[in-house]
This record gives sequence, C-alpha cells and structure tokens, in this order.
Amino acid sequence: MNDAGNTRKPVTTSRLRAMKSRGEPIAVLTAYDYPSAQLAEAGGADVLLVGDSLGNVVQGRETTLSVTLDHIVYHAEMVSRAVTVPFVVADLPFATYHGSVDRSIANISRVMREGGAKGVKLEGGEEILPAVKAAVSAGIPVMGHLGLTPQSVHAIGGYKVQGKESASAKRLLDDALRLEEAGAFAVVLELVTDELAAMVTEKLSIPTIGIGAGPRCDGQVLVFHDILQYELQPRAKKFVKPYANVGSVIRDAVQAYVQDVKDRAFPEEKHAFHMEESVAQQLYGSKE
Ligand code: KIV
Repeated sequence: MNDAGNTRKPVTTSRLRAMKSRGEPIAVLTAYDYPSAQLAEAGGADVLLVGDSLGNVVQGRETTLSVTLDHIVYHAEMVSRAVTVPFVVADLPFATYHGSVDRSIANISRVMREGGAKGVKLEGGEEILPAVKAAVSAGIPVMGHLGLTPQSVHAIGGYKVQGKESASAKRLLDDALRLEEAGAFAVVLELVTDELAAMVTEKLSIPTIGIGAGPRCDGQVLVFHDILQYELQPRAKKFVKPYANVGSVIRDAVQAYVQDVKDRAFPEEKHAFHMEESVAQQLYGSKE
C-alpha cells in the first residue's frame, strides 16, 4: 500500500502498452488541481492529463491559446503532487515546441522538472517530429495528439471532425505511424471518424486514446468538467457522456448557504467557539 492508501502499482508507459496488447481499455481523464487529481485517482483513472483545456474549463476562454507554460507548470505541479498511481501527462501549450529544438526541450524540461509530470503531450504530426525525437532521446515520454488539434483551431477553421476524406485520413495515419517511429508512447485521436480511429489503432503498436473518436481506440479521454457537468450551463457535446451534474449540486448548496446566512440560520451554537467565563469577566467586568 502506498502513501495515498492505494494498492495499485504506479502506471508506466510499458504498462500502458501491455494494456493495449491484452485489450484492456485505458481510462484517461483531465485534471487541473490537487482535489480533482485525488478524486480522479480514487476513481481509478490510469492516466491524468493536465490538458490545456484548462483554458476553456478553468480560465473560461473560448480557445486553449491563452494557456502559457507557466500555467501548465502551475497546474501540473498540483496534479503530480496529489497522486501516486496514475501516469501524469501535461500538455505543452500553444507555440512552445516549434522553432528551435533547444527551445522546445527547455520548455518541455520545465513541465517535467517544475511541474513534476511524467510525460508530455504535443499536438501535431510531421511538423513536430524534431521536437518529439529530441524529447524521446532525452528520456521524456511523449504522447502525440492528432485529428482535431485545438491549438490550431484558427488554421483548421473550427472544431470539426477530421480525416473524413481519403487524403486527410491517409495523412493522419502516416502522421500516427511517424509519431510511433519517433518514439511516442501513445497518441490521442480527437474528433476523427470511428473508421479512421479503428484503422490507426490496428496499425499502431502503441495505444491510441480517443476523444470523439468512437469506441475502437485502446483508451478514452474526457475532460473532468465535462463528465461532471461542472459548470453553470453545461453545453451538450455529442462525444461526451455526463456522469453527474455537479454544477447544479454546487449551485443548490451555495443557494442554501446564502439563504441560511440571510435567515440567521447559520452559524448555529454548535459552530461557535467560547472563552472561559473568567476571561469574559476580565474583559467586560462583572455582570452585577
Ligand atoms: O487539453 C486537453 O484536455 C486535451 C484532451 C481533450 C485530449 O488535449
């Protein structure tokens, strides 16, 4: 049993590969802070992703482009410190792993050293292979991310399903094979057709982790706030299955608290602290 009272062994990249080989699905969830990471670990997640989706669900932005390296390091540190079993992967944010390989490695190192992540996720195919190869040769586990790559949303022209035509599907399959060849330990497939995801999953020996990519990937990833409906007005997404409505639970609890304060129903006697009678007398004098 480890410090967190957990009997599961820490997840490693070789264990994830073994899970693929024996057909055991890999459960990945995003996490952004200490309590969410602990809850995700307690729920049995194999991998926690400190996703730059924190730009959307934590910072309240329309895209992930606002997320900086400092943000990722800050959130990754909390998540990594909170758990012992899940393999913690952190996203490299927008435009931090392009251009010089030296700069990419310096940025990736911060996420590992200061953020405590065990691996990093980079979006893209052929164009990011130099950064992937350099990271892998420095001993850094790299997860790829193909299909809808949110950091390129403006170049792609919106959040839409990718690889629907044969040319783009072929390009995605080639990119996946190249990422595997470059040493990636897994690849996220976001918003791609079920058929393409199944084909990539069959061709690769590393695990594919799908989000909006159908049921035939080796694993699935969803955003913490999406499965919990942890927002005021959850937006329905076709590829998300909500498992709770935490947003309405929180709103109702806050409403009940506010009402109690207004009604002077909280705090009650049991919530109060008292001083010794003699001390009260010294302060205010005798009542007689
Ligand atoms: O940022 C993120 O949360 C992600 C997942 C949705 C794959 O990249």
